[in-house]
Amino acid sequence: MNAYVGTPTSRVDGRAKVTGAAKYAGEFGANGLVHGFVVEATIPRGRIVRIDTHEALKVAGVLDVLTHANRPPLADKDDAWKDEVAPEKGSTFRPLYDDRIKFNGQPIALVVAEDWETARFAATRVSVEYEEEAFATDLESERDNATEVEPPHKPRGDAAAAMTRAAVRHEADYVLPSEHHNPMELFATTVVWDDSGRLAVHDKTQGVQNVQKFLCSVFGKKPDEIRVISPYVGGAFGSGLRPQYQVVLATLAALALKRSVRVVLTRQQMYGLGYRPMTIERVALGARPDGTLDVVTHEAIAVTSRYEDFSRNDTGWAEQLYSSPNSRSSHKLVHLDVSTPCDMRAPGAATGVCALECAMDELAVALELDPVGLRLKCYSDRDQSEDLPYTSKQLRECYARGAEAFGWTRRDPTPRSMRDGKDLIGWGMATGVWEALQMPVAARIVLTANGHAEVSCAASDIGTGTYTIVAQVAADALGLPIENISVRLADSTLPQAPVEGGSWMAASSAHAVLGAAEDIRGELARLAKAMPGSPLAGLDAADVALADGMVASRAEKGAAVSIADVMRHSKIERIEKEKLNEFADDKSHARNTHSAVFAEVKVDEELGVIRVTRIVSAIAAGRILNTKTGRSQIMGGVVWGIGMALHEETVMDHRFGRIMNANIAEYHIPVNADIHDIDVIFVDEPDERINRLGIKGIGEIGIVGVPAAIANAVYHATGKRIRRFPITLDKLL
Ligand code: MOS
Repeated sequence: MNAYVGTPTSRVDGRAKVTGAAKYAGEFGANGLVHGFVVEATIPRGRIVRIDTHEALKVAGVLDVLTHANRPPLADKDDAWKDEVAPEKGSTFRPLYDDRIKFNGQPIALVVAEDWETARFAATRVSVEYEEEAFATDLESERDNATEVEPPHKPRGDAAAAMTRAAVRHEADYVLPSEHHNPMELFATTVVWDDSGRLAVHDKTQGVQNVQKFLCSVFGKKPDEIRVISPYVGGAFGSGLRPQYQVVLATLAALALKRSVRVVLTRQQMYGLGYRPMTIERVALGARPDGTLDVVTHEAIAVTSRYEDFSRNDTGWAEQLYSSPNSRSSHKLVHLDVSTPCDMRAPGAATGVCALECAMDELAVALELDPVGLRLKCYSDRDQSEDLPYTSKQLRECYARGAEAFGWTRRDPTPRSMRDGKDLIGWGMATGVWEALQMPVAARIVLTANGHAEVSCAASDIGTGTYTIVAQVAADALGLPIENISVRLADSTLPQAPVEGGSWMAASSAHAVLGAAEDIRGELARLAKAMPGSPLAGLDAADVALADGMVASRAEKGAAVSIADVMRHSKIERIEKEKLNEFADDKSHARNTHSAVFAEVKVDEELGVIRVTRIVSAIAAGRILNTKTGRSQIMGGVVWGIGMALHEETVMDHRFGRIMNANIAEYHIPVNADIHDIDVIFVDEPDERINRLGIKGIGEIGIVGVPAAIANAVYHATGKRIRRFPITLDKLL
């Protein structure tokens, strides 16, 4: 029955993307389209005393300059600005709302002109007078002002006592810098105005229905007055989860001018959006001499803005993953004069597990144990925090398969003991862990008499491959060739879907499609058995399958009617079914994905240059829907993990409260020359409990553990333990 699921099916949207047929938010046209350019604040905190737009308005082609003083109405209640991803506590940032400056780079005006270049030029003619206020942007100097995130995680046992009596201890701070997403596609919105007052909003987003509800709420519109569309997204990685300010500005301008408006942010301006927050992670481990873990504590202190509490699960992994009778964690926030952080691939885990896994490596060194051996010693078949079994957990198999593929047994544990000419060789490893979440999603299938099916759903495809897996699942469930399936996504008028994030969309959308396909099968079965002389007479929907364009008995070979005949005989052109799939809320088991990451680095002893020459990532994540796009997904995560380990860092000049490297010339990311061998192994992980298809999702697991594996390899190569990321060569010399 599975002709497509589990195979390396090529992307169904691949051709549209490489030929340029795929349209992105900033590429949609409209009659009389005009262009907005954002003017940003140049101070981190204070008030706008005067904003002079006269010179800008004099520039030929400029239509208007919107500011807090002349904008159309915006909702004033905090609740109206909440979206489905918004942090728990605080008040969402509102662009052009009032005279307050909350962060450097804040949008304070939108210049609208006949073309983008004119708008950009005129933006330089807007002059602003500020009343500046004292500000703080440095997490480390403000560390003592941190406040606890409520509610604190409940401790296990008595961590303090256990730490006192531990035979071997390790405790250290690991510092992870703020990082920006830098997706290829710039944040952009094209709002198409029509004279009926309805708006079609082409937005770069991970969730069209979330943006649609948000805009209706912020602008006081009815649901049918705003439609949000985002068929293709050029990467987002969490930065497109919340509605970003450009969608508010473009809509504001369209309403003010009663015209179609496009706003595209520059690469530099995108540094005024969300980011992975800088975090100081303190991990303490206490063990017996044989490596039995007795206590784990993890305290995180992270940046947030003054106006919102943003925090993710950095510290829970340490309490969940390894067998340890005692544990304690805390998560604190420091409120600074910066924009609110946001989700960025494996938020919380990418940073928290990095600290934990570096600490585990340091403990292994202190215990004189093999790092894999230590992890096996502390292995837990139960979620340690909740004391629950897992729906499935093949992490042991990940260690075994990864180690074998890497050649781990040939490792000499002594630092600086392995060489390749002038290069020191280092081998390190780490564990990765993420959640296997699932959300309610609806899908509609329209099967037509010509044997084609259109599957539609409001879910996004942010490059992760939703189009392809939806087509695969539909093709298998309907028994049709994949070429006969067309998929429509990311239009707010389509069946319900949440934002695409948290690695939940594959499992969630697949089961919605499966449900709708089963309803189609039920309808076909009902029609087929009513046909005169039907070989399927007396059979229920459950007794038949759809395969090769036929409605066929499962039990009796050859008892089948073609779908085309069924529809012709029943005189119907189409069968349409829509299904909302909700997952049972089963609290009896923990649901996670896991990985074992092995890294080889070569470090030039004289120059300190680090190359990551090999990565083996063994992943246990349930059934892999598509081994080709899945492998790419994990490779992308690994590349990003290399960036976290060696390159990425948003650098702030705290004298001005301003980001110094707000561009991709100076914000370093890995390039092709930085990437060598990446071997992805999908470990078999049957899971009959998590959901019917055994799917867990792999969007985030690929990055988790990678930075720690590399840091541990750098230690093994050089004997130097770098706990402040990224590990740049100056830190090795
Ligand atoms: Mo992901 S950080 O949930 O887009």
